[in-house]
Amino acid sequence: MGVLFTPATLKALTLSDRIVVSPMCEYRAVDGRASSWHFAHLGGLAQSGAGMMIIEATAVEPEGHITPGCLGLWDDETEAALKPVVPAIRANSSIAPAMQISHAGRKASSEVPWKGGSLSASNRAAGLRMDRRLCRKRRARRRLRRLMVLA
Ligand SMILES: Cc1cc2nc3c(=O)[nH]c(=O)nc-3n(C[C@H](O)[C@H](O)[C@H](O)COP(=O)(O)O)c2cc1C
Repeated sequence: MGVLFTPATLKALTLSDRIVVSPMCEYRAVDGRASSWHFAHLGGLAQSGAGMMIIEATAVEPEGHITPGCLGLWDDETEAALKPVVPAIRANSSIAPAMQISHAGRKASSEVPWKGGSLSASNRAAGLRMDRRLCRKRRARRRLRRLMVLA
């Protein structure tokens, strides 16, 4: 309990305390695009008092998402859908927003759990290669920097 509620410094970032909200997939994105759900869900968590909140696993390419309901950051449309979320969080909370950028690999392109969670044909056909995944991750990081820094 002693240090939990004391500030923590990570390079240039100082968190108000040492509590971090872990990333939680919500299956509420639309083909990777953030929806009004993300304002409500992340906006609520931003009021939790935690020092940092990690936005759910966010796919770096369409084939790399776990399900079509998972967040993505792979093109201008997915970036634009997320863009207003960050300033909305910042306007109402001192929490530090972070994001888990991801590629679900062999688990990618599955159906949502309540529809059985099976792999889609696009996953089986995609031949997901590691070099492509890393390249996509670099691009997603650039988009993420734009979102977090310019927002
Ligand atoms: C609804 C839900 C969604 C989750 N989504 C993710 C996710 O997007 N990425 C991830 O790495 N872990 C995810 N997890 C796992 C959590 O981040 C966390 O590691 C897990 O709940 C264990 O932490 P706990 O013991 O504090 O509950 C999810 C967990 C839950 C309950």
